[in-house]
Amino acid sequence: MFHRQRGRLGGVEMTNQPGETTTTRPEVVSTQVPEGREAPNDQAALSYIWQPLSIGPMRVKHRIMVPARVLNYSRDGIISERHIATYRELAMGGASLIVTEQHAAHPISKGSFYMPCTAWEKQAIPQFEKFANAVHEYDCRGVVQLFGTGVHDRGTMMIDEWHPLWGVSRIPSIVHNEVPMEMGKEHIKEIVEGFGDSALNVKVSGLDGVEVHGAHGYLIGQFLSPTYNKRTDEYGGSVKNRCRIAVEIGQAIRERVGGDIAVGIRLSFDEFLGPAGITPDQAEEQLEILAGTGLYDYFSISGGSYHTLHIAVAPMSVDDGHMISFAKRAKEIVGERAKIFTVGRIRELRMAEEAISSGAADMVAMGRAHLADPHLVRKTREGREHEIIKCVGVNECIGRLFDQREVICMMNPVTGRERQWGHGTLQPVGERESKSIVVVGGGPAGMKVAEVAARRGHRVVLIERENELGDHLNLIKRLPTRENWEIAVDNLRRAVENAGVEVRLGVTATKDLLQSEAPDAVVVATGSRYDISGLSAYRPDRDGIPGSDQENVLDVKSAIDRALEDPESLGRRVVIVDETAGYLPLGLAEILGRAGADVEIITPQMFVGQETFRHLEMPYLFPRLKELGVRFTPQHFVESIDGDTVHAYGLWGSEQRTIGGVDAVVLSLYQVANDELYHELRGAFPEVHRVGDAVAPRRTAAVIYEGEKLGREI
Ligand SMILES: Cc1cc2nc3c(=O)[nH]c(=O)nc-3n(C[C@H](O)[C@H](O)[C@H](O)COP(=O)(O)O)c2cc1C
Repeated sequence: MFHRQRGRLGGVEMTNQPGETTTTRPEVVSTQVPEGREAPNDQAALSYIWQPLSIGPMRVKHRIMVPARVLNYSRDGIISERHIATYRELAMGGASLIVTEQHAAHPISKGSFYMPCTAWEKQAIPQFEKFANAVHEYDCRGVVQLFGTGVHDRGTMMIDEWHPLWGVSRIPSIVHNEVPMEMGKEHIKEIVEGFGDSALNVKVSGLDGVEVHGAHGYLIGQFLSPTYNKRTDEYGGSVKNRCRIAVEIGQAIRERVGGDIAVGIRLSFDEFLGPAGITPDQAEEQLEILAGTGLYDYFSISGGSYHTLHIAVAPMSVDDGHMISFAKRAKEIVGERAKIFTVGRIRELRMAEEAISSGAADMVAMGRAHLADPHLVRKTREGREHEIIKCVGVNECIGRLFDQREVICMMNPVTGRERQWGHGTLQPVGERESKSIVVVGGGPAGMKVAEVAARRGHRVVLIERENELGDHLNLIKRLPTRENWEIAVDNLRRAVENAGVEVRLGVTATKDLLQSEAPDAVVVATGSRYDISGLSAYRPDRDGIPGSDQENVLDVKSAIDRALEDPESLGRRVVIVDETAGYLPLGLAEILGRAGADVEIITPQMFVGQETFRHLEMPYLFPRLKELGVRFTPQHFVESIDGDTVHAYGLWGSEQRTIGGVDAVVLSLYQVANDELYHELRGAFPEVHRVGDAVAPRRTAAVIYEGEKLGREI
């Protein structure tokens, strides 16, 4: 079930339970798969989702679609060739409808992310035409999402376009914290006209529709929400007044496009802020008002705002299909007046089928599932479900967005790189060029390179020392709430099996053993291990932490292994020293905290667990850790470990801390490449390659990418 912790974010009491503030809460559709393993879709059981549908003038061939996703691929403020290649791949992969990423519908709405797209400029039209042609070729429809940023923007994002932000009221964004100019009526009029003009650009390009982004707390959502809308004129106060701009935008769009293209609006059914944000009751009223105008052909029902993005783009801690109940309620209100789209961790077509067949929604949007596999529909229809790369819910995609970088998928290195690596680009090798390849190491990089090389026609043996494939992924998946990491292992393992790789488990690869195989090429993917010296970039004056060689000092992996066996084995008082900012030390703290240990996490970084912020896990994890009494000590580091005493110091000079009675100190600092075998083998075989952490320890996405690259080149 959904985690029920409550936390305070930005001083606002937030609720993590969709529907918690709902007066009527229909049941959540739940299809739990035991132990994080994925049950196959039963193709025969899927029928409702394959029915065509008319959405205003737009007819879609079935019910599975791709919702709006900022990709950060734009060039000069318009969708790029990279975008079009991504959209083409999705259309080829069988999606019936693609909604583009959010497009600025007005000049003042460009700076939410660094590489924005605009729809109001005429220069957008030729690329829209290309997009239309690319997707129409596969009988897929294309819709452009139009939005305004309001306060969720940076007025200094583009060097030539500095401007004050336009706010509904004077409330700044919780993320950007920039005080806006309060919009006058003339500004509102400009915005409304901008949406209308943008829709016209979309229409003349031959695309199929526009979607007004009224969700997730962006400008139209700011008008709709009591969090940002404190106005006392006809645009504020009652729900009806707060809906006024959405009605005017609908009218402006219809004036330009009539009934020629579909017009939809995306709404947050619940902002999960109680009465401080949009509540389900208010959303129901909004739907009644907007459906009553007849301006909108569809309502795309999402949830969350900038305060609660962790629910809008929910990570793996959240149940699948967690917002289907909202769509169901919306459908009851809207009836036949418009179509209803649902979204939110719907990763399996079985769940989509249930949403459609139960009448909860007319269309099912699968966002991250399509980042992981743009061909998920086609593979299912062709009876190849076992080939689908499934979304793990790690949220590396949205984390990249927060870094202002191009969106990628941790699991699928082809996403965003379709022009080089998309469908049909894998170069097969003929029988004579086929090499015998031994890959040593069954972690993510090793599995990926083995799979890709085998798919090309090489004869590949994969040797793994342990009795299971997965390497460090098998560690993280054993932490509390991390079971879904098994999906990552399963994705990679299935692909290895499907490609016909011969897997040998429980075998330690030595030079002698490899020589007895006489392969044409060896790929060393032996991963990495955790350093125990205490070496830190924060202390260029020394090679480690004095005392790190004591028996009570462990690396984070060994500590987790021990804690999983016996959570009390590390003692009553544990200090974790972290510089990875990742999940492992926090997961360890949770295991130990649950067993009653007194745990303190020390890091020289600004915050503890910064990575969990990027991945939107922090609001789920931190309340649990706080409840367990885990102490966070950021901006501190360890001077020395002396028996059971840890001497820590504040980075800025003044604070010293002596922590006594420490049973165990866990170092979660750097990883060291396991590259010894690579150096031993060089020169002993015609080709010796290394890949992944054995080159340099990196993020999972980076090593999977490297596996794909080498697999294509070898
Ligand atoms: C990388 C990324 C970018 C997104 N950009 C947008 C956007 O531009 N507009 C929007 O309405 N929602 C956006 N979303 C939210 C998705 O449309 C979707 O509602 C959310 O990911 C939950 O659906 P899913 O679980 O199927 O991914 C984005 C989500 C992700 C992961």
